[in-house]
Amino acid sequence: MDRYVTLASLTAQGTEVLITEAQLADRVRALAEAICRDHPHGVHLIGVLKGAFVFLADLARAMACETTTDFIALSSYGPHTSSSGEVQLLKDLESSIEGRAVVIVEDIVDTGLTLASLQTILRARSPASLRTVCLVSKTSRRQVDLPIDYVGFSIDDGFVVGYGLDAGERYRHLPYLARLVPEP
Ligand code: PRP
Repeated sequence: MDRYVTLASLTAQGTEVLITEAQLADRVRALAEAICRDHPHGVHLIGVLKGAFVFLADLARAMACETTTDFIALSSYGPHTSSSGEVQLLKDLESSIEGRAVVIVEDIVDTGLTLASLQTILRARSPASLRTVCLVSKTSRRQVDLPIDYVGFSIDDGFVVGYGLDAGERYRHLPYLARLVPEP
């Protein structure tokens, strides 16, 4: 256990903790309860790769209602730290969502361009319902108006990493959310 803490601390140089593991666990549990309250007959979770894989794993395990899971991959950022605004479908779903109660699971909504595209794509596939949960919402950066039914944390601008979120593929493994701090 200590070994993992040490490794995470070493890799996290250049970051400062924004949301602790305990805060994440409490919030994820509350989101899971809210989603199950709205979906007593079960819900089909669609995780947006790659960033949502950690959040979805914890969220699903905190849910008391029945869940099924699928994944989709869309990329708007590439290797850079600002949105290009171009959304590409990298991996499609494996099963149909027609007639199903669907919840999109996103790690972060920034400009909203990725999620807006995904909601349009999935709505066209005739789910019984389509809701969205995101762990982190950067509301000040939004470029499109879009519905987000469940929000974990609203934050101001700043590059957030950890708990699935990356900067150039680094930091996804951190068990907390951190903010990148500029090199001195
Ligand atoms: C991130 C995040 C969202 C998107 C949000 O994905 O997971 O899907 O950016 O940005 P937007 O609101 O400005 O569109 P990214 O493209 O970085 O891929 P990743 O999940 O594989 O890290």
